[in-house]
Amino acid sequence: MTDPRPVIAAIRDGRGLDGPGAALIAQGLADGSVSDAQAGAFAMAVLTRGTGQAGRVALTRAMRDSGHVLQWDLPGPVVDKHSTGGIGDTVSLVLAPLLAAQGCFVPMISGRGLGHTGGTLDKLEAIPGYLCDQPEEDFRRIVRKIGCAIVAATGDVAPADRRLYAIRDESGTVESIDLITASILSKKLAAGLDALVLDVKAGSGAILKKSDSAGRLAQALVETANGAGCRTTAFITDMDQPLARSAGNALEVHEAIRCLQGEPGALRDLTLALAAECLTLAGQSAEGLAATLESGAAAEAFGRMVAAQGGPRDLLVRPDAHLARAPLIVPVPAPQGRVGRIDVTALGHAVLALGGGRVRADRVGLDRMAMLGDSVGAGAPLAMVHAADDTAAQVAIAAVQAAYTLGEGEVGPLIRDRITA
Ligand code: URA
Repeated sequence: MTDPRPVIAAIRDGRGLDGPGAALIAQGLADGSVSDAQAGAFAMAVLTRGTGQAGRVALTRAMRDSGHVLQWDLPGPVVDKHSTGGIGDTVSLVLAPLLAAQGCFVPMISGRGLGHTGGTLDKLEAIPGYLCDQPEEDFRRIVRKIGCAIVAATGDVAPADRRLYAIRDESGTVESIDLITASILSKKLAAGLDALVLDVKAGSGAILKKSDSAGRLAQALVETANGAGCRTTAFITDMDQPLARSAGNALEVHEAIRCLQGEPGALRDLTLALAAECLTLAGQSAEGLAATLESGAAAEAFGRMVAAQGGPRDLLVRPDAHLARAPLIVPVPAPQGRVGRIDVTALGHAVLALGGGRVRADRVGLDRMAMLGDSVGAGAPLAMVHAADDTAAQVAIAAVQAAYTLGEGEVGPLIRDRITA
């Protein structure tokens, strides 16, 4: 079978997608034998009629196998975490070295920011010299030696997804749960994982704002990853407030370093919970995880990873010497009251407008962001703005003020739900 049209027609007519059909589409996306028109029609058929659960697994496997799939022979489990993205979410920078210090191997292939959220690679590139683009040989060497590496995908990782992703963007088919699932998992599973934990955000700063749609995505991801042979669970976690008080590339690296050095807070709590889940999935004991963080072993693994990927050897000792600082740091004034609601997406847009995130100026952003229930006013600002100049600072101050509502509000649990296969 080489003609994609019967495969597209079957989905259009509600008959789902089978393994050979998924392979034909994924290979054709990767080698160009499926045209843009066919790929757009395929995506629309999937969005409107769905692939069915077996079809989603088949599509994920076929997209994973459209490129190179890593295989490992290491003296410990190979694990990873994926987050659907939020504000102040610097978990990856803490979790990867923490799991490495605990005897796991974490070959983390990460992404750039999507929408209003920051990307792990953008944050790491705020470290002078840090190279996200590592040849596979070096990636493998660093993972073997240190236990973790955080890199960008090479052209060989799930090429079918790269093409379909662009076509979804152009054809109004981004929000299909089947396509989102296959897209996320094809890239993650190409890293050759034994276990994967997913952090699906819900709330005002999440891509899926409602808990029920986040739940549907989490369920689809967990069923599909397990169906494709990778032990996986998901947490639905709160994004009605930022995960940590900093947003912006260099500021978040600072935040991650403080967390690695023992600072308490939601970033630490969530990292420990996700890391424990990873260990359990991989059949390892999660006992002693907090002690590993407190011992400094995770911080040391982070420092070694940064140095191995081209960054400074003394980043943890002298972060201020290496991470750029904005020329202007000003408070966001607030009337007196308590924080009742935060439009976290608006905070993300404020950071992007300052030049943080992908529109790069690594040193800008927000820190000391107020959280739900915090008292503000009378000398306690909503946040500190780190800006390139006064004009940018004034725009950010107005945006941050608009993002906060003072008054009564509820603070929900950090982990809203746990989804298992
Ligand atoms: N992240 C991905 O990699 N793909 C999607 O479709 C959405 C988020």
